[in-house]
Amino acid sequence: MPKGRILVLHGPNLNLLGTREPEIYGTTTLDQINLLMDERGRELGLSLEFFQSNHEGKLIDRLHAARDQFDWVIINPGALGHYSYALRDAISAVGIRTIEVHLSNIYAREPFRHQSVIAPVCTGQISGFGVQSYLLALEAAAAGLN
Ligand code: DQA
Repeated sequence: MPKGRILVLHGPNLNLLGTREPEIYGTTTLDQINLLMDERGRELGLSLEFFQSNHEGKLIDRLHAARDQFDWVIINPGALGHYSYALRDAISAVGIRTIEVHLSNIYAREPFRHQSVIAPVCTGQISGFGVQSYLLALEAAAAGLN
């Protein structure tokens, strides 16, 4: 298996980025985010695969299939991060180092967003830097592979 394989997972409602509450999430679309990540990933010698779903089970299935296939998962779980024990268990079960990403600073928003149930099974969390959150996660993954 070549080193530096990254699976990027996007959870519910992130397919609407660009037009979804732009004052919170900005105007960059998901396709543009993926393109920016792909470009930076190439520079860092990483190969990236992307998957978005609005369905908890589909994200979990994708994680299961990722077992032994990827060095890192970078996931923006959307709202699932606040309550999905099933997603947390899937991350834990597959044993791939995982970075949790949020565009917005979840700790500066409504109280229900202050908790991440997946954070304890992730290597780290990056929250609040908009599109840069994803690119910072790539830097962290690349550094962690050395
Ligand atoms: C989000 C934050 C979550 O609270 C929200 O449900 C999202 C997007 C973010 O990227 O800031 O869907 O994960």
